[in-house]
Amino acid sequence: MNGPDSDAGLQTLLADIDAARSHGLAAIAAASSIEDLAHTESGLFGRKSALGQIKQGFGSLPVEMRATAGRALNEAQQELRTAHAAAADDLAAAARRTQLQREWLDLTETPPGPRRGHLHLVTQTTERLEDVFVGMGFTVSEGPQAETDWYNFEALNLPAAHPARSMWDTLYLDLGERTELGDGEGGEASNVVLRTHTSPVQIRVMEVQPPPIYTICPGRVFRRDTADASHMPVFHQLEGLVVDRGISFADLAGTLEEFTSAYFGRSISSRLRPSYFPFTEPSAEFDINCVICEGAGCQTCQRTGWIELGGCGMVHPNVLTNCGIDFEEWTGFAFGFGIDRLALMRHGIDDLRDMYTNDIRFLNQF
Ligand code: PHE
Repeated sequence: MNGPDSDAGLQTLLADIDAARSHGLAAIAAASSIEDLAHTESGLFGRKSALGQIKQGFGSLPVEMRATAGRALNEAQQELRTAHAAAADDLAAAARRTQLQREWLDLTETPPGPRRGHLHLVTQTTERLEDVFVGMGFTVSEGPQAETDWYNFEALNLPAAHPARSMWDTLYLDLGERTELGDGEGGEASNVVLRTHTSPVQIRVMEVQPPPIYTICPGRVFRRDTADASHMPVFHQLEGLVVDRGISFADLAGTLEEFTSAYFGRSISSRLRPSYFPFTEPSAEFDINCVICEGAGCQTCQRTGWIELGGCGMVHPNVLTNCGIDFEEWTGFAFGFGIDRLALMRHGIDDLRDMYTNDIRFLNQF
């Protein structure tokens, strides 16, 4: 059956296939969204599509035409599938780009107009703590950050070479030719340290003020520590000192409990654990309920329900004597803790270094 008739028939069929192919490619190119593209699918690939219908007519074709027409039809179908898949990819990528554009937020954006600053979190915390203690009848005392060995250690019952000095990794100041501190207290160059705690302020207060004494000493302290999530070489402490007649350990426990609930809220309380400090006897460390789990036990408190806050104890008689106070007549207690750590706990911050990198996005939260 290889006549002019069948040749003409094949040519028409091939032309139809080609038309369906071009038509399909145009429909794919015209789709401007994934939804549009989905609508073209039945027209391209289904039984009712142009190519599908041509294929259905194949049954009545002479065998020798069927092979040629079949190949052309398969190629056309393959071409449409490839074009369709490529268009689907392109449209999906474009949709994603549009969505990202729409959802884009510039977190470093600064609002127009002058920006108002505010106090640093450590300063805010210090002021809050001062308020709490002033409310309990305490005064606020300050002292120098560079201290002689006498104030930082010796007067606190820590003579030279006392093994407990290793409790504080100390930074010594090289004063060169100068051997005197501004306030007249002599100090050899190697004798002057950056204070490792605020306890020397206790000594300074007791030297000049006769009891009764109710004071707190907030301030910056220094230790030879490498910065990590819970240590900084410079941080802040708040020390409390009470000297009066008849002061007992119960007064210490009560004061700490009162401060804890005033600062953290009534759901948080404190406890004392025996410990050692050269300047207090007996000494204790004080813990508070973990502020994350409120004592139930969680990762932050290593499932104990408690977090260590600071040290405390009854002022050692040697310390009172060093300051000219009669320990037969007066007794007292002292306590000290880290202000930065306290702020960390209260606000659920997990890295101390964040406090000092001064990223405005962090600071603005407080
Ligand atoms: N000064 C101590 C420290 O820095 C804390 C402390 C203060 C302990 C007062 C007892 C009494 O570790």
